[in-house]
Amino acid sequence: MAGPDPVSVLDCDALSVGWTAHAPVLCDLTFRITPGEHVGLVGPNGAGKTSLFHTIAGVLPVLAGRVAVQGRAVVPGQFRPETALVFQQAEDQLFCPTLIEDVAFGPRNLGLSDAAITARVQAALALCGLTGLENRPVHHLSGGEKRRACIAGALVMQPDLMLLDEPSAALDMRQRRRLITLLGSMKQALLIASHDLELVLELCPRVIVIDQSRICADGPARQVLGDASLMAAHGQEVPHSLTPHHGAGHVHVRNSP
Ligand SMILES: Nc1ncnc2c1ncn2[C@@H]1O[C@H](COP(=O)(O)OP(=O)(O)O)[C@@H](O)[C@H]1O
Ligand SMILES: [Mg+2]
Repeated sequence: MAGPDPVSVLDCDALSVGWTAHAPVLCDLTFRITPGEHVGLVGPNGAGKTSLFHTIAGVLPVLAGRVAVQGRAVVPGQFRPETALVFQQAEDQLFCPTLIEDVAFGPRNLGLSDAAITARVQAALALCGLTGLENRPVHHLSGGEKRRACIAGALVMQPDLMLLDEPSAALDMRQRRRLITLLGSMKQALLIASHDLELVLELCPRVIVIDQSRICADGPARQVLGDASLMAAHGQEVPHSLTPHHGAGHVHVRNSP
């Protein structure tokens, strides 16, 4: 098997993912993500997006093949600050009494000085628009603030790769727009699992589609998400902004006689 590509931040090579050895959720995944690349991960419920994230983050052991981050194989349970997983449910991630304690938790484990921790935490809070809420109990944050608190807790580790699991779920339009602006400004490689295909289109030049245990497509976002038969075959719809329209009256081509 060839070694990891030195210009990849993430290398998956014939990777199989699953919770029990005899029933893999995903088989034979081979793809890589380059530094700073923003990639959408699309697939129906149960396709294995979250399971893949847990495998890349070293929570779920690899069933077969290999996964490497920054050229080093992922070992379950080994602390890898270069990878940050942002959970779908903020409540699964936030666990300290106050926002500042939560965001500072990771850097404290890096053994940094108090001054360095404070600087990192304040920078992450500012980037995520959470300055002033430092002492707020995490359960008193709004849904959008909780989501951004999770992202702050990831960013504060200065990761090279962020795995975002359905980041826009349950956000209102204003919070969703704020999230898109924040994620779009990030220099890290992002792998974004989402059913919000318009968000994926805005943020990700490349999309990977998974379904029925396999990668079904991996290519330019507009090409993949604009392929009506591919989308239909995998329980998706072409996003509205890629749907052809007839002149005046906002008539969708797919609905016209
Ligand atoms: N903790 C778990 N234990 C056992 N099976 C799980 C667990 N989490 C998810 N699964 C199973 O793995 C499969 C993929 O689920 P998941 O990765 O959550 O998909 P997605 O995130 O794409 O909706 C499903 O069949 C699901 O039931
Ligand atoms: Mg999921």
